[in-house]
Amino acid sequence: MTTADGCSVEVYTLLPTAGEAQIVHDAIPAGAEVLDLGCGTGRVAHELMALGHPVTAVDDSPEMLAHVRAHKVCSRIEDLRLDRRFEAVLLASHLVSAPDSAPVLAAVARHLAPGGRAIIEWYPPEWFDTVEDGGGRLGEVEISLSGITRDADLLSATVRYAARGAAWEQHFTARRLDQPGLDALLAGAGLVFGRFLSPDHTWFSAGSD
Ligand SMILES: C[S@@+](CC[C@H](N)C(=O)[O-])C[C@H]1O[C@@H](n2cnc3c(N)ncnc32)[C@H](O)[C@@H]1O
Repeated sequence: MTTADGCSVEVYTLLPTAGEAQIVHDAIPAGAEVLDLGCGTGRVAHELMALGHPVTAVDDSPEMLAHVRAHKVCSRIEDLRLDRRFEAVLLASHLVSAPDSAPVLAAVARHLAPGGRAIIEWYPPEWFDTVEDGGGRLGEVEISLSGITRDADLLSATVRYAARGAAWEQHFTARRLDQPGLDALLAGAGLVFGRFLSPDHTWFSAGSD
């Protein structure tokens, strides 16, 4: 089973976390309620709940949401209008690096409470400059990247996942943003860059103030 953006539900039921929830937890107040946009199977949401954060989890895949134990909403992020705001909005999985992520960032902004924090994972510019074909492992899942092509500020590639004798592929295209480009994209949604949250600069915070 695959989602609209090509993610395999099976892969996300097998992938362990890799410190994502702790990065979010460390960047927001204790007990802050989190809106998790593009939650998948709840891989990160469930850990956030264990760390004391109530979570509302959003995805447009009913098959992904079937695994989620948080309060869940089936919706495209771009169309989401919950008519309420959250102290923390999580946009993980490099969704902000998609070629046109402005409508997704607008959804982040309209659900962020005054003084709240958006916690965002992106591909930093250094990644575009250095990424090569190669592989690694997360838990029992072997992950490899191949077929990288570059066209101006766009990079396309295929990620291959393998586990338990099965394999899945996902093709993706990401847009390279440098810091001024990121600042401009955030500003378009009424958001302001906060600070980097991880040494590799793949996570950062943003606010509306
Ligand atoms: C790569 S998975 C990651 C899931 C989760 N963030 C994690 O780290 O485990 C991306 C998820 O975002 C969802 N997604 C991607 N774009 C979306 C959109 N525009 N609206 C709603 N869900 C979206 C997909 O259905 C998928 O479940």
